[in-house]
Amino acid sequence: MTGNAREGGSGDGRESGGRIRRGPFQEGEDVLLISPKQEEHLITLAPGKVFGTHKGNLLHDDLIGREDGCRAWTAMGDEYRAFRPTYIQFIMNQKRHAQIIYPKDTGPILMWADIFPGATVIEAGIGWGALSIKLLEAVGPQGRVISYEVREDFAASGAKTVRRYLGDCPNHEVKVRDIYQGIDEREVDRIVLDLPEPWQAVHHAREALLPGGILLAYLPSTIQVKQLCDRLAEEGGFSDPETFEVIQRPWHVKGMSVRPVQWMFSHSAFLVVTRRTGT
Ligand SMILES: C[S@@+](CC[C@H](N)C(=O)[O-])C[C@H]1O[C@@H](n2cnc3c(N)ncnc32)[C@H](O)[C@@H]1O
Repeated sequence: MTGNAREGGSGDGRESGGRIRRGPFQEGEDVLLISPKQEEHLITLAPGKVFGTHKGNLLHDDLIGREDGCRAWTAMGDEYRAFRPTYIQFIMNQKRHAQIIYPKDTGPILMWADIFPGATVIEAGIGWGALSIKLLEAVGPQGRVISYEVREDFAASGAKTVRRYLGDCPNHEVKVRDIYQGIDEREVDRIVLDLPEPWQAVHHAREALLPGGILLAYLPSTIQVKQLCDRLAEEGGFSDPETFEVIQRPWHVKGMSVRPVQWMFSHSAFLVVTRRTGT
């Protein structure tokens, strides 16, 4: 393991740790192809490989060494655009075995949990690893993220997603562990829970968090919210929790049609945030 994504660049656009942010496309990099119909396809560049379409093949070799945002053509002349994927494009264009936290909620989680450079953060579970990536970027090389995950297969695949996006992260530890059974760490700054029964981790969170530390839980249903808030009050040692949801309403902007889209993704989860109180 060589570094973290926030460490300085190496001059070739590859940040130490692995993620490439600038410069020409390189072998082994993920690239997003956008079709003439605006369909997105994530590919990993490999010499000699092709991306097959019904309008013929597009050669990976035609992309390696080219600049971000370039055009490339299939054998029958269809024009594609190739971009280095953003975080959102990376997570939304892959098969996922677990429900992820969507970007509309990830930003607010980083804000409300106040994830800061140098922080020690515990999350559970890692699932597909979508949130872990942004937690690691936010804590930077001086911080730590410890991901608890009860399923061994998810622990391995979540860690793999993080490595694929960020490269090696020596400050990311994945533990195959049931967080309801306890938290090993002490003097933790932040705990973020995305699992079905966070109330079972409340006592452990109280022991692990520093005074002033933040516990944030991500919960799809109101029943879960109520159960968590009741448990926090019973446990004591936490401030009154704040609960909210984040609603994103996309708009359709084309020609004279400038209006909200007709169908939207109306609910993901509620965020419950509380602080560990001091004496
Ligand atoms: C919804 S997924 C997390 C998705 C993740 N936040 C992401 O953005 O990709 C919930 C995960 O919590 C794990 N989990 C459930 N109960 C757990 C427990 N008691 N301790 C640790 N992990 C647990 C599940 O195995 C699953 O991988």
